[in-house]
Amino acid sequence: MPSAHYLPLDPQASDADDLEEEEGQQEHRTSMNNNQYNIRYHPQPAVDYDVVVDDDDNDDDRTPTMGKAPRLSRSIPSRRRCWIMPIMLLVPFCIVFLYFMLSSQTLGLGTSLEDVDDDYEPHNDSPNTHALNETLHICSESHEDGRLYVQDKPSSAYAQLPVIYFVTPTYPRREQIPELTRLAHSLLHVPRLHWLVANDHERCDTYMDILLNRFGIPFTHMASPMPHKFRNSKPAPRGVANRRAALQWIRQHNLTNGVLYFGDDDNTYDLRLFTEIRQTQRVSMFPVGLIADYAVSGPVVRDGKVVAFLDSWVAARRWPVDMAGFAVNLGYMSLYPNVNMPYKPGYEEDLFLRSIGLHIDQIEPRGNNCTEILVWHTQTKNKKSPVVRLEKKYLDGRSNLGALFRSLKVMGVAFASDTEGPLATISKNGKGKPHSYFLS
Ligand code: UGA
Ligand code: MN
Repeated sequence: MPSAHYLPLDPQASDADDLEEEEGQQEHRTSMNNNQYNIRYHPQPAVDYDVVVDDDDNDDDRTPTMGKAPRLSRSIPSRRRCWIMPIMLLVPFCIVFLYFMLSSQTLGLGTSLEDVDDDYEPHNDSPNTHALNETLHICSESHEDGRLYVQDKPSSAYAQLPVIYFVTPTYPRREQIPELTRLAHSLLHVPRLHWLVANDHERCDTYMDILLNRFGIPFTHMASPMPHKFRNSKPAPRGVANRRAALQWIRQHNLTNGVLYFGDDDNTYDLRLFTEIRQTQRVSMFPVGLIADYAVSGPVVRDGKVVAFLDSWVAARRWPVDMAGFAVNLGYMSLYPNVNMPYKPGYEEDLFLRSIGLHIDQIEPRGNNCTEILVWHTQTKNKKSPVVRLEKKYLDGRSNLGALFRSLKVMGVAFASDTEGPLATISKNGKGKPHSYFLS
């Protein structure tokens, strides 16, 4: 039976504060078309701190300069001056040496895989140690599987399988209901799955409750709005409040059995994905199609082991993978009480995976050693819901249009108005006629 409990909404933002702290240190990024994968990394010139010995008595003599030559005071004693000359000659030499060392690493020149791994400390690896502290706002949930059959077998035949907790962040826009409907029709074929639908909205959407109940897939519907202070930031942390709420739900239920997967509402899922991730022991990974410049992002596998990653936007991410490109065993995740997904656009996957102490050797490659695409990063065009001029007096029981537009309004797809928007065209035999012709 579905149950509903309403709790006050009070999103905590301890990590948000961290974000603000980190913002100053972050690489500058720009966002084109409001798409994460168009974000590009623009390195800024480093600010050097040169010690300037001033003639005045000012104590604060650490002045930031943009690569200026060091300024030396006239009052330096001659013994120190003879040390300074060799140092000044050595400094450019060291800079050139370091430059070549670093660039050969970045380009992978003369660097073996072992060298790359050397700087790795797996378990000292929580960049954000603040625990999740979301207030959960559950709208409705059902733990019963309403499906008699899944893939030609009775649901009961799958009772021994570990449950997949499929976390879907979603947000109100005109494509929301179609996206969720399409996704539901994929998930209907997946046995032993609990669908965590976390809506980026202040209130519970009752239409969504009805929709989710109708599918018969066990689900939890929660309201998990993005904190106000991030709403207008560009890029915004999309789907983060939602996933954090789902992580909190998993923690509150002390779930240590099953597998967690972050499945956005607009992606396309191959049914084989679910078979592949269900047996995840710690963290499994696989390629995601249609990501960014290479139209793919995923692990590089050699001899059955993940050794590196292919992704066109590295940006110093240790785990340059898409949210849809990995699954996590809940028993493993429960070993990391500081599991987290900070509000840091573009870095959600990386920081989440860092928060669970992942080591590259532990990753289980899936999809036939990462040779197959089992999930696609499809994106739906996001358009404004239109207002159509259609007089209210005609939206009664005389035709279907009243009920149709009431339904479109509830779903946030389109709105009818007496006075606004382009006049709705109603035609017969290729000719538009006044509304009164058909509706009065
Ligand atoms: C990419 C990644 O695939 C996402 O996993 C990642 O969260 C996102 O970038 C990001 O970091 O911004 P992309 O297709 O660019 O995804 O983003 P969307 O599909 O627009 O949003 C990701 C998820 O968050 C979707 O399920 C969407 O419904 C939800 N979302 C989006 C919200 O809950 N609130 C929003 O304001 C926007
Ligand atoms: Mn998307």
